[in-house]
Amino acid sequence: MTQAKLLREGDLGILRIDNPPVNALGEQLVGDLIDGFAQFEADTSLIGLVIECVGRTFVAGGDIAAFENPEFSAIPMNALLGRIEGCSRPVVAALHGTVLGGGLELAMACHVRVAHPQTIFGLPEILLGLIPGSLGTQRLPRLVGLELAYQMISTGKPISAAHALSAGLADALDDLPGVAARTMAHDCAGADLRRTSELTPPDIGNAGAVLDAARRASDKAPWLLTRRAVADCMAAAATLPFAEGEAAEARAFNGLVHSTQSRAQRRLFFAEREAQKIPGLSGDLRPRNIQRVGIVGVGTMGGGIAMCFANAGFPVTLVETTPEALERGRGLIAKAYAGSVKRGILSAEAAAEREGAMTGSTDMSALADCDIVVEAVFEDMKLKLDVAQKLGAICKPGAIIATNTSTLDVDQIAAATGRAADVIGTHFFSPAHIMKLLEVVRGAQTAPDTLLTVMKLAKRIAKTAVVSGVCYGFIGNRMAEVYGRENEAMLLEGASPAQIDGVAQSPDFIGLAMGPNRMLDMAGVDVGARTVIEWIASGEGPQEPNYRVVCQALFQRGQNGQKTGHGYYLYNDGKPVPSNATAALCAQLAAEHGVTRRDNIPDQEIFERLLFPMVNEAALILEEGIAYRAGDIDVVWTSGYGFPAWQGGPIFMADEIGLDRIVARMDHYAQVLGNPHGYWTPAPLLRKLAESGGRLSDWKRV
Ligand code: NAI
Repeated sequence: MTQAKLLREGDLGILRIDNPPVNALGEQLVGDLIDGFAQFEADTSLIGLVIECVGRTFVAGGDIAAFENPEFSAIPMNALLGRIEGCSRPVVAALHGTVLGGGLELAMACHVRVAHPQTIFGLPEILLGLIPGSLGTQRLPRLVGLELAYQMISTGKPISAAHALSAGLADALDDLPGVAARTMAHDCAGADLRRTSELTPPDIGNAGAVLDAARRASDKAPWLLTRRAVADCMAAAATLPFAEGEAAEARAFNGLVHSTQSRAQRRLFFAEREAQKIPGLSGDLRPRNIQRVGIVGVGTMGGGIAMCFANAGFPVTLVETTPEALERGRGLIAKAYAGSVKRGILSAEAAAEREGAMTGSTDMSALADCDIVVEAVFEDMKLKLDVAQKLGAICKPGAIIATNTSTLDVDQIAAATGRAADVIGTHFFSPAHIMKLLEVVRGAQTAPDTLLTVMKLAKRIAKTAVVSGVCYGFIGNRMAEVYGRENEAMLLEGASPAQIDGVAQSPDFIGLAMGPNRMLDMAGVDVGARTVIEWIASGEGPQEPNYRVVCQALFQRGQNGQKTGHGYYLYNDGKPVPSNATAALCAQLAAEHGVTRRDNIPDQEIFERLLFPMVNEAALILEEGIAYRAGDIDVVWTSGYGFPAWQGGPIFMADEIGLDRIVARMDHYAQVLGNPHGYWTPAPLLRKLAESGGRLSDWKRV
């Protein structure tokens, strides 16, 4: 079926694109556009052309899968855009929906753009580790100026139709853009046509400042290939003739499209979507109706979770133990909203409305009319079981009971409610109203419609949901545990928190947003230590006497991290500096536990001991069926733990390093460090794939 064809309407040609669902540009559509445009060129009885799309949107981007093809080339599309722009008869784009990527590039080659007032315009390629490859970097600055173009291209953030109009990207807004575009085509026939490539960026006088900013951003993160590419293309747009800019963009684009960084980000793009597909949920299953949300425990997490729901328009009932605790919780919420208002990302009215959507109580029976209740009380199993039992009795039939536990057994909590089918884990990340990730924990008894409802709800509150099975720490914290374990082992062996964090944060190794020690200081050493202590006490956790003793000892000393001004680091005006006390504590604990100290632990060893156990744990998580697919695990780490998207997540990174190499290094550490607890024993799946030359990234259970 053709995806675009030329229609004749009186003296106008209409090039109509029809490629559901979002009119994505792929090889076939480009080919059909070329054919359709050639027919228009040949038919001189037509005085102008309108390009429009059928369905809910104009072209909303390119076919991302096409970039995997080593033969991919932007040349045919770019040549077509040149012919459209060079045409002596007017070509008008009628825009609606989301005009993104190749869609916007097509629109910018037209002489006139008319858009519906709700249209969104953007060049989001950077989010895939790319830059626009069909002259977006050259035409956009010529239309809207270098500054706005740089902003849009370097962040991928779209702009509204009103903004596009004021910036010169849209020429007119109209509720019926197709009708208006036809009028415009008639009006412009025979007149001088405005060709984007012939324009000078309107803010050319300010070019120095924009180019400096782009260059500085690139110098600050020289490992990010996209930054350099964007800086080069902006410089080309400001200083070179269009044809030379075209060549500069092509060079930059071709350098990125086959890069590991872009492959990593494109895979994550697909993985995030695939994570929404849940095996065992039949097509005719209906989600439960969710109108009102309840939160039990309005602390750090409960407050943030309440905001997530209020932000999405849900009325929320908050329950705390005492009026003081409730007041404190509401105070936290008010403070967070005030911060958003101050930063200009929320209006005072909207903040007041959202706070107004929350009602508080110290009586759990206030939750009786809620359709879902999220429990976020302290991480204490006895307390959780007590709350679960009460919720089981109070919540109305069909209401979902969700627990925000970060490590505890969701099945046990579910059993305590007496209605396990309604129970599920919703593991939010701190700060809950900001972090994208939501680990959805599917219990053994969780009903399919409970799971479906929560997955749909996650979308409504703008979270990236990933399903995990029940185990200690689920996907993310289970892997973080082995990372934390090796961190502490290396602290005992003589590495400093700063050295370990430096390796974790260095883009030469991983490039994490924060190393393990900074992270624990920020989250609260007490929070981490309590979890470890409870895990060990339960008999399920490791029983060796030196297991994560540093965090336990810091906790006993009240060195709870940033909030107490001292943890792994000492905090001077909020800035972490090395703590002699922590260094002495590590040496003392090493002596107590008979750990041999070394003067110089190489950075490479630190890197391998942080990453490889996580990869091994990921392989176990896959084998045990805790995660459905490898991509889910990389989504968890990139959207919840500050793992850089350009590295693709721990599993993608492992594949790039080579599983055979990882297994060999694990065997090496088993020898040199000893392996009494099996920490360095490669998971069977890892060893098998290493031997067969397979990749873990591609592994799926379903
Ligand atoms: P928090 O200590 O800040 O808040 C817990 C709140 O629960 C307190 O305000 C307390 O008064 C209230 N509470 C205790 N018993 C209650 C009861 N019977 N009824 C009503 N309210 C009660 O704790 P936080 O950090 O918010 O943690 C809550 C849960 O979220 C825990 O299960 C924790 O493991 C989990 N979690 C925490 C994360 C974090 O970074 N803090 C991240 C992800 C999950």
